Amino acid sequence: MSARPKIATAPPAKGKPVTLSSLAEKKALGEPIAMVTAYDYPSARVAEEAGVDVVLVGDSAAMTVLGYPSTVPVTLEEMLMLAAAVRRGLERPLLVGDLPFGSYEVSDAQAVGTAQRFVKEAGCDAVKLERGGSSVARARAIVAAGIPVMGHVGLTPQSATALGGYRSQGRTAERALEVARDAVALQEAGCFSIVFEAIPSDVTELLMPRLEIPVIGIGAGPATDGQVLVFHDLLGIHEGHAARFVKRYAEVREQMVAGVRAFAEEVRSRRYPEPAHGYTMAPDERERLCGLLGETTPRR
Ligand code: KIV
Repeated sequence: MSARPKIATAPPAKGKPVTLSSLAEKKALGEPIAMVTAYDYPSARVAEEAGVDVVLVGDSAAMTVLGYPSTVPVTLEEMLMLAAAVRRGLERPLLVGDLPFGSYEVSDAQAVGTAQRFVKEAGCDAVKLERGGSSVARARAIVAAGIPVMGHVGLTPQSATALGGYRSQGRTAERALEVARDAVALQEAGCFSIVFEAIPSDVTELLMPRLEIPVIGIGAGPATDGQVLVFHDLLGIHEGHAARFVKRYAEVREQMVAGVRAFAEEVRSRRYPEPAHGYTMAPDERERLCGLLGETTPRR
């Protein structure tokens, strides 16, 4: 493991928006970057208050909030709606919108058009795309159109089938070299940052000196410049299997189920609502209403 400079962790600078240069500065200073996904207004508010640096409206929304079996089916319109909601809840962190499968691969013009919609309609600061290969040219075209791009290599869920499933990438020297070439090509195309997903930690360590831009890891070990986790994974909102790299920092789903169950039980046993949850009418108004309703004896 490469030695990381020790830094004093300062509380997040309130009100000072995160920019591409502040992220580059963090890398230069060896200050880790914290990134999290968000998909709606409340999750954006939580990310804001928690003081993260970057918020990604990931296409993981397909599974976490829309119930699709993979990231592939989520549409551009769905992503734009979620990204716009996140924008409304966010002030300080940099907001990155994830280009969904099928919205950027066909041509540079398609990629630029899609990226522009994320900026113009949803208010994103930057966009993210997956893979090397043809995505390198797409990244270059989007950057040339004035929109910052984040790359994503290693396990790229949009092409999970071609990669042999949701498994770590770069475990052979040849495959690790491909990941390295993709990452360097994306950097040369002008990406301001890159995500490394599910890559052996030792591969990450070997690649880090070749990258001048901030690298954000997810299942790529501790050597990256920052880490990202999916909101629903780290908070324990998502049910079912979690990848090895997920660390749960809370069990929110359990609390949500317990809360809704308690509500249902209190409704059935008539313990909710209590008088404090209701509104009252002034006695004279009540009396007048009884008169209007033709009730002679007011009932309480
Ligand atoms: O869609 C997503 O949530 C992502 C992160 C895991 C990086 O791409």
